[in-house]
Amino acid sequence: MKRTITIIGSGMMGSALAFPAFENGNEVRLVGTPLDKEIIEECKRSGKHPKFDRPFPKGVEYFQFEDWQEAVKGADFVIGGVSSFGVDWFLNEVLAYLDPAMPVLSVTKGLINLEDGTLISYPAYWKTELLKKGIRREVNAIGGPCTSYELVFHDQTEVAFCGKDTAAIKMMKEAMQTSYYHISTTNDVIGLESAVALKNAYALGIALTIGLVNRQHGAEAGLHYNSQAGAFYQATKEMTKLLRLQGADEDSTVLGIGDLYVTVYGGRTRKIGILLGEGKTYEEALDILAGVTLESLVVARRVAKAIYRKAELGMVDLTDFPLMTHVNDVLDHGKDAELPWDSFTFDNTK
Ligand SMILES: NC(=O)c1ccc[n+]([C@@H]2O[C@H](COP(=O)([O-])OP(=O)(O)OC[C@H]3O[C@@H](n4cnc5c(N)ncnc54)[C@H](O)[C@@H]3O)[C@@H](O)[C@H]2O)c1
Repeated sequence: MKRTITIIGSGMMGSALAFPAFENGNEVRLVGTPLDKEIIEECKRSGKHPKFDRPFPKGVEYFQFEDWQEAVKGADFVIGGVSSFGVDWFLNEVLAYLDPAMPVLSVTKGLINLEDGTLISYPAYWKTELLKKGIRREVNAIGGPCTSYELVFHDQTEVAFCGKDTAAIKMMKEAMQTSYYHISTTNDVIGLESAVALKNAYALGIALTIGLVNRQHGAEAGLHYNSQAGAFYQATKEMTKLLRLQGADEDSTVLGIGDLYVTVYGGRTRKIGILLGEGKTYEEALDILAGVTLESLVVARRVAKAIYRKAELGMVDLTDFPLMTHVNDVLDHGKDAELPWDSFTFDNTK
């Protein structure tokens, strides 16, 4: 069944979703945020996103944000493509004006920490903020290991759509699934959203080890994976503990671990982790990566803050989270990147 899908946010991920959406036989309208003006101009001119090597399928339509209301007219659902930095913009400029009956699927990965150490998902944040304006709406979300440029290349990809409205997420799955984009469905919104946000924070910790290897052996040193795997083990241990506290189910947890793998392997979080691991100061690393979206820094700080607060309240033991507290020390207290390896060991003897 042909549907009309409007994507708002023409960053890499929002734009990449135009591929399965269109190739599955739907009408696709890609709308830029006010920050995406040049991207949309380029798409209109060449049919290609400036950051992708392949053109969009012919037939995808492009809109500047001024025309977004036009672009959502008659749509079956809207995909929100903003990053963490656009969460409030999406709330105030789109969700606040969108018909509450229009299903929304968000790609944004992140968590917000409340004063009491609770970590809430963006769909929960949007729901609460909209209720204050008298608007009742659920937001559905996508989680899972998916890099945008690989999706563009039709690499086999496994994600999950989460939401409280089972009929809506099944409709969106049917609209979006292709021979290369495989979609699980779950009502575990907080679990999935927590898992795929935590992996950004923890990938940063693991990527430090790649920089440390470069520092010790040189960038061309070849195979050195012990330390990466050691940090990966500790990351999954801490993520699993936090996800248990978040009430995540097992499928959401393991999909988050899949996402951790792809995030360590490539992308922006890896880059900042490597620079810090190599011994660059936080400011030097930021300078080198100027203009790059670094939402892992936001989520790492929020998660660390939540852990410290939960520890103060006696809900967790700080010594169970040596990797995340170390990441926080590297980011905010000028600590060297070398990991506290001994604190990752366990003693399960009687
Ligand atoms: N769910 C998934 O499968 C999946 C996979 C990869 C990435 N992601 C997530 O998707 C989101 C977008 O990632 P990306 O790679 O497209 O990032 P990007 O930097 O390429 O694009 C960011 C988008 O957010 C918008 N934006 C940023 N700041 C804004 C602001 N202040 N006001 C309004 N709009 C703003 C930009 O205009 C752009 O449309 C991230 O949260 C990322 O973690 C999700």
